Amino acid sequence: MKVQSTTTQQDDHFLISNYDYKSTNIEKNGEKYIAKPQITNFKFKTDTRIPKLGVMLVGWGGNNGTTLTGGILANKFNITWNSRRGTHQPNFYGSLTQSSVIKIGTCNTEEVFVPFKDVLPMVNPCDIIFGGWDINSMNLADAMNRAQVVEYDLQQKLRPYLEKLVPLPSIYYPDFIAANQGDRADNVIPGNNKLEHLNIIRKNIADFKQQNNLDKVILLWTANTERFCVEDPNVHGTAEKLLKSIESSHPEISASTIFACAACLEGCSFINGSPQNTIVPGVIELAEKAGVFVAGDDFKTGQTKFKTCLVEYLVGAGIKPKAIISYNHLGNNDGKNLSQESCFKSKERSKKTCVDDILESNKVLYPTEEELNIDHTIVIKYCPETGDSKKAMDEYIAEIFLGGRQTFAVYNVCEDSLLAAPLIMDLLLLCELFERIKFSKDSCEYQRFDTVLSWLSYLMKAPKSESGITTINALSRQRAMLENLVKVCAGLTVDDNLRLEVRYG
Ligand code: NAI
Repeated sequence: MKVQSTTTQQDDHFLISNYDYKSTNIEKNGEKYIAKPQITNFKFKTDTRIPKLGVMLVGWGGNNGTTLTGGILANKFNITWNSRRGTHQPNFYGSLTQSSVIKIGTCNTEEVFVPFKDVLPMVNPCDIIFGGWDINSMNLADAMNRAQVVEYDLQQKLRPYLEKLVPLPSIYYPDFIAANQGDRADNVIPGNNKLEHLNIIRKNIADFKQQNNLDKVILLWTANTERFCVEDPNVHGTAEKLLKSIESSHPEISASTIFACAACLEGCSFINGSPQNTIVPGVIELAEKAGVFVAGDDFKTGQTKFKTCLVEYLVGAGIKPKAIISYNHLGNNDGKNLSQESCFKSKERSKKTCVDDILESNKVLYPTEEELNIDHTIVIKYCPETGDSKKAMDEYIAEIFLGGRQTFAVYNVCEDSLLAAPLIMDLLLLCELFERIKFSKDSCEYQRFDTVLSWLSYLMKAPKSESGITTINALSRQRAMLENLVKVCAGLTVDDNLRLEVRYG
């Protein structure tokens, strides 16, 4: 695809697009809103040179880590496998960037769509170099077997590639994850000195980058869900305080926060795929200083994606959700870890907040704070027999016309890591892309996006936003935001779905 337009310029290194952003400023005059449409000029400058990307996963030997690494290798080497359903080809189904399309315009009234990955130059996932840490020493072939996610025949074909991959020893603070994980911890950096731990992780990153001759590295936490750390401004509030607290091995510094700090100090962006409060204010300040991004929290895969879609539909239709009751049972190691109350609490929090903004937007349905307080119950049970095929059962009760009720009972078999792996890949590819985009507002100097990369909210259960920016959870709004951003950067027109060129062209 090539864009021919007077508002777009391209040379060997950069693509620059000029965009008149139309928004509406609202002023409140007593009970009245005064709407003032306005136009702001933005320039987006994308570095079109694709770097050699390395990714380090924390929790590499877990279900997500092994499924992601193996799935990408299967695609890279076009490995086919047999099951009782026949021969299978590798694919990237479930990946927004690799398997979804974007409408770029119309050709003789026909709408034209291209793959998301083709709108702007992006890293090919098959070119990513993977590395990482795990508190368990199993090589990735054995770990994939333990995970019971990937078909046996494919496991066998991947074995020669995966058995060479062994996670680096990691830091293990037993107090932060469930006690039932203790028997996995045979690959642990010794000692209790958190500063030494930080320095070892930093060295691991630097070595990985240098040994693989990488242009950049991104770190992603896909290790166990930790309990929330007890956040204290004196411990976590600024970069300086955080580093001091690490120096004194403060007990409320979690392993995930050490990884986030190490990433920032080595000039790498950090993504938190679990719900805990890893990205404390001190981490954000470190990232800001290093000019890297942080993004979180908690991958938005099956149940929550559906929830933010269904609730958006109901509220958008003027129907009032009154209760959401979500049951999950799962039998993988994530479920085992979540069976401890402190870790479950982290998950409950991120699962519960995911519809708040959708409800709050509609003051016709929810005129008071009290009404916003709907019954939203989360239950998670560990049931080993279920393995990675997580069952999510949700009941949605909504109030309709004249006091009637509409009830949805949704049964969702999530195949957890087969949903999470392509999503993790998208997080990495989009984070890398956004590191290459700069923008300028009203002809001011170019700057990078905010440190907290809320553009990735479509992929996160509890999206972290820059301070002062409201979080958007509604799925279609999150997707439109991403789609429009890449279109704008490419110099394409943002679609308002009026389709006037088709109706009256
Ligand atoms: P898993 O339990 O199979 O893998 C986690 C891995 O992390 C294990 O191999 C464990 O040994 C390792 N680990 C624990 N503490 C560590 C540390 N300090 N350093 C290095 N490694 C450590 O779990 P799974 O299914 O891969 O999920 C990973 C995370 O992603 C969990 O926190 C889960 O809640 C989160 N998540 C998963 C989703 C999914 O659909 N699979 C969706 C949303 C979030």
